[in-house]
Amino acid sequence: MTTEEAAVKAPRTSLHGQWSSRMAFVLAVTGSAVGLGNIWKFPYIAGQNGGGAFVIVYLFCVFLIGMPVMMSEILIGRRGRRNPVATMALLGEEEGSSKHWRLVGSMSVIGGILILSYYSVIAGWTVAYVEKSVTGSFVGRSPAEIASIFGTFTGNWVSVAVAHTIFMAINILVVARGVERGLEQAVKFMVPALLVLMLVLLGYAINSGHFAEGLAFMLTPNFDALTWDSVLVAMGQAFFTLSIGMGAVMAYGAYLPAETSITNASAAVVVADTMIALLAGLVIFPLVFANDLNPADGPGLVFVTLPLAFGQMSGGVVFATLFFVLLTFAAWTSAIGLMEPAVAWVVERFHRSRAQAALMIGGLIWALGFGTVLSFNVLAETRFFKGTIFDNIDHLTSNIMLPLGGVFITVFASWVMCRNSSAEELGGAGTVYSIWRFLARYLAPLAIIFVFLKAVGLLPEFSGA
Ligand code: PFF
Repeated sequence: MTTEEAAVKAPRTSLHGQWSSRMAFVLAVTGSAVGLGNIWKFPYIAGQNGGGAFVIVYLFCVFLIGMPVMMSEILIGRRGRRNPVATMALLGEEEGSSKHWRLVGSMSVIGGILILSYYSVIAGWTVAYVEKSVTGSFVGRSPAEIASIFGTFTGNWVSVAVAHTIFMAINILVVARGVERGLEQAVKFMVPALLVLMLVLLGYAINSGHFAEGLAFMLTPNFDALTWDSVLVAMGQAFFTLSIGMGAVMAYGAYLPAETSITNASAAVVVADTMIALLAGLVIFPLVFANDLNPADGPGLVFVTLPLAFGQMSGGVVFATLFFVLLTFAAWTSAIGLMEPAVAWVVERFHRSRAQAALMIGGLIWALGFGTVLSFNVLAETRFFKGTIFDNIDHLTSNIMLPLGGVFITVFASWVMCRNSSAEELGGAGTVYSIWRFLARYLAPLAIIFVFLKAVGLLPEFSGA
């Protein structure tokens, strides 16, 4: 064996160290996964897409497409042990393909910037709602009053811009300093606390008198009402909620100790993330029906239903404050993951300090965020293609870029990488490996491409369908 071959065969280590334990890795990926996607986005898009059938398609996508994509992403990350762009280039060459695979890594830089540009604006809403909760703005208010609080707030672009600026500024500060330790601690506390609060809210929803109606809306499938566009949205949401398809999980995988089971870690994250999303739906839909609201009301759904509930329950001020603080934390642990690929790339490519990179990238994201800030007021009526600027950025990232990233990632892990490499990372060629390989080679990429083609009308309807 030449020295070069020996270097390639030797266990690779990351320049940035490793996670202190398997738990630390699971917590970090869970922190990235659990966020606004679970509590803000899932209920409102499930509401807009008719409930039951959409939720079932979403669950299929999470387990049959999301899970193999997540495993592929982590195994690539651990094999390469570099940032996503460098890892894809290195493994592309090492596996006898091409270093141009790095373009898949580049997509994560752009995807992260675009997603965070709107994510930060919605996280700004949660920051503003902490203030509204503390000052008791929701106590004893009627549904119309609570809806008007939301409408007045988002209708004023200056207050939305201020909240977005505060969230982005904190983010830049934290990313500039590097936060691994703090992040681990925050997630360790946040995820269980969020879960407990959701359970308290679930108790409230069960007693709302409309629990059965909410449950039926969420779980009774009406496949006739399901369009291919809704299927694409459900698939996009599976990617968005698990933070997969854009290299964020790949970056985290780079620091994973060699002996940790990628399958078990992925399963833990997928189950925790799905539980929180389903819980959010189980809390929100009964409240929608109890207050005669419309489940298809869109992005304001959580910001209206939950304040209504908090306004009526005893101790509501405390619960509301706690809830929006936790949601801000959840958004924050996701936002850090969204910014990291771009910051790491600027540091390496342009030899800048971390602080300079965070400021440059953060500034760019902040400026782009104004597209979303204005989508709810000044430019609310400026609609093209999928709707407002916000609607279009959301569609482009969640429904196109992330699933496309998923195709490349699964194809790379299961077709380009040789069997030995992937089996070594997944703990040997047993049954689980064979299932993963089948899903990653065939089901996931073909299903994603099929849904894409269906949604843009490029495949004919089957007779009788
Ligand atoms: N998964 C996050 C959420 O559900 O809120 C959003 C997200 C974070 C998407 C990080 C993508 C990502 F890389």
